[in-house]
Amino acid sequence: ATTRFYDFKVQSMKITKMCKSKQIVSINQMFPGPVIYAQEDDQIIVKVTNETPYNTTLHWHGVRQKLSCWSDGPSYITQCPIQSGQKFAYKFTLEKQKGTLFWHAHVSWLRATVYGAIVVYPKMGIPYPFRNPYKEQIILLGEYWHKDVVQLEKEALESGGAPTPADAFTINGHPGPNYKCSSSNNDVYKMVVIPGKTYMLRIINAALNSEHFFTIANHRMTIVEADGEYTKPLIVDRLMIAPGQTINVLVTADQPVNRYSMAMGPYVSAKNISFQKLPAISYFQYSGSTSNQIVMPAQLPTVNDSLAVKTFMDGLRSLQSAMVPREIDVNLFFTIGLNVEKCRSSNPDKNCRGPHGGVLGASVNNISFMSPSFSLLQAYYNGVNGHFTRDFPDLPLKVYDYVNGAPNDIPNDTQSLVGTRTKVLEFGSRVELILQDTGTVSTENHPVHIHGYSFYVVGYGSGNYNPSTAKLNLVDPPYMNTIGVPVGGWAAIRFVADNPGVWFMHCHLEIHMSWGLSMAFIVKNGKGEMQSLPPPPRDMPTC
Ligand code: C2O
Repeated sequence: ATTRFYDFKVQSMKITKMCKSKQIVSINQMFPGPVIYAQEDDQIIVKVTNETPYNTTLHWHGVRQKLSCWSDGPSYITQCPIQSGQKFAYKFTLEKQKGTLFWHAHVSWLRATVYGAIVVYPKMGIPYPFRNPYKEQIILLGEYWHKDVVQLEKEALESGGAPTPADAFTINGHPGPNYKCSSSNNDVYKMVVIPGKTYMLRIINAALNSEHFFTIANHRMTIVEADGEYTKPLIVDRLMIAPGQTINVLVTADQPVNRYSMAMGPYVSAKNISFQKLPAISYFQYSGSTSNQIVMPAQLPTVNDSLAVKTFMDGLRSLQSAMVPREIDVNLFFTIGLNVEKCRSSNPDKNCRGPHGGVLGASVNNISFMSPSFSLLQAYYNGVNGHFTRDFPDLPLKVYDYVNGAPNDIPNDTQSLVGTRTKVLEFGSRVELILQDTGTVSTENHPVHIHGYSFYVVGYGSGNYNPSTAKLNLVDPPYMNTIGVPVGGWAAIRFVADNPGVWFMHCHLEIHMSWGLSMAFIVKNGKGEMQSLPPPPRDMPTC
């Protein structure tokens, strides 16, 4: 294993999309940002210099950060932001990790333009468990706004309503022909392929607020990896990928020489919301085809096709039989969903004071997460009181009924409390977490991501979780870091809490995180040195 150094300068950059220019935040004047290439077990050091006026942090999504929680990156969870003009070096090891991961900003909504791929090859001499592709290609799915994204979040929270839909979806930064703004505008991504060859696409959903279907006209894809872990080969015509997920597929250019469209279009499980509908199109273009040939159109599922999502999920299995914990020490049941934060605006009780007196809110177990203004990890490590509590409930909280002046008997998510609560886990505890989608505003598929861990997705289903009928797969469930909890349904995940630190869990739809759909786990140190979080690096930013 070697150490790889990267220099990331966070800079403003002028960009023109769809005939309009704006300043975006970028890394090294690139959009999408630079790729980190490494091999399994390598150490990575990324020196970040913030040359913008914004507070910044970077997160290495899917990197398990064994004993390196300080370098995880979520703002006010594991670090204070890197302020304008400041530096911080992220240091971590890709211990037993390979495949496609990605990095993104983890503060405000900056990740709309601050993201890039992480490609981790197997160790020298270790082949892929499938035939070597002729070539590999990164496919980054994104979402683009003309408006300043920091402003966008602010406006959404102040209005109390849903955020402004994106102006475009993008593939590797390009919106494609659906968003043509003038006759000479041709901002489309093209992947040129040689007939007969097989390619591996490393697909990453870096979009802010939307889940996506992805398909290639007339071609089938073989899924071989999800969230950086090999899967049993699964042949599909289309797939669904949630923000925070990565999927590798093999595609063979086995069709007549032509241009085929590769399309990403939204999967929208919530009702009554407005969203950008136009798919982003790119070309899967055979060498030898000419640009006056018509592009073969791709067929995306309809936007609310939850059956297509289920069919796809049903096929996802770990390549090898999995090391799923059989015995469970900690049983958790978390409701997740959107709600109306009535008490935020109408009740003066201080527990009800939201981070933003808005109307729409979101919660986990009826607790809407309030971001602290100090690093939770630093507060925990140094024993500083007053920034968080350790009383996150194992079951949905029965919140106080302000109308009748008594605690509700039944969980009621219309009056979520606001707080910075953490669930403390003993080192090594075997955890089962049931995520139940609920919500008074709407139910929808929530991509729930946990930092510092991958977890086995042992089951999922529609409706309410019922332990006596739920079928669990303890043999070869996928090992993921982001799970799309089915709309109106549930997912069961298992993991062993063997990585000490403070770990954020949140919905990877950015607006839901802004509304409070998040919480944090504290995993205590174990006995030995190899089970304890080392002290913070010297250059740790301060708040
Ligand atoms: Cu992809 Cu908390 O992040």
